[in-house]
Amino acid sequence: MTEKLGEPRLDVASCESTQLLVDTSLPEGALVVADHQSAGRGRLGRSWDAPAGTALLFSVLLRPPADRRSPELSLVAGIAVADALERTLGLSVQIKWPNDVMLRRQKIAGCLAETRDGAVVLGISVNVCQTRAELPPNAGSIRTLTGRDWDREDLLATVLDDLGSRYSAWRAGGLDAVFDGLGPRDFLRGRQVTVNGTSGVAGMIDREGRLEISVGHGEVVTVESGEVVYAR
Ligand code: BTN
Repeated sequence: MTEKLGEPRLDVASCESTQLLVDTSLPEGALVVADHQSAGRGRLGRSWDAPAGTALLFSVLLRPPADRRSPELSLVAGIAVADALERTLGLSVQIKWPNDVMLRRQKIAGCLAETRDGAVVLGISVNVCQTRAELPPNAGSIRTLTGRDWDREDLLATVLDDLGSRYSAWRAGGLDAVFDGLGPRDFLRGRQVTVNGTSGVAGMIDREGRLEISVGHGEVVTVESGEVVYAR
């Protein structure tokens, strides 16, 4: 059964972070959407910034089964965002392990899965109508990358729809069940990378969501998470 995500829903004009506004006593699927965040949270303790009215910014409450690895949810979210953007824009979209969504080699969306009170608060941001000057160097928005503006509410509905399907499949069958949306979209595969001090050529993302790196002499090192530096 496909999960229906997005209810109950809280909309705010501004907050520190939608991640903090999710009430974990609510049922699975509870949603917080903001027009602006003053202290948006990114991966690895970074901040996440976008001018008011330019990005899709939301967090959704999930209650994955205990036998699933919840860190995989940032990959599952990346797959769903890629599905939604491909459906919306008609362009192919890649996933840069572990949580970035890339269009035309620039980061267009990011996902953050945080555990709180035994649940997962999954935060997603999609850059929609920022201008070049409003984005960090290696990021793009739907506007800068396609020349088009997009209605954030329409995009939210599409992303929630795709997230509901991918999340249901993952609940039932783990990463194997959604791998068709990941393997062919792998942005890093074949690129020179350094992750946590390990350098080599990125190989596959394995069925547990880890990145394989060929470090030479036939040796493969598998990394769970970390900051990726890659050659463009
Ligand atoms: C990353 O790429 O580092 C992850 C970015 C995730 C940002 C989103 S915006 C909505 C939600 N609220 C936050 O404070 N962070 C996530």
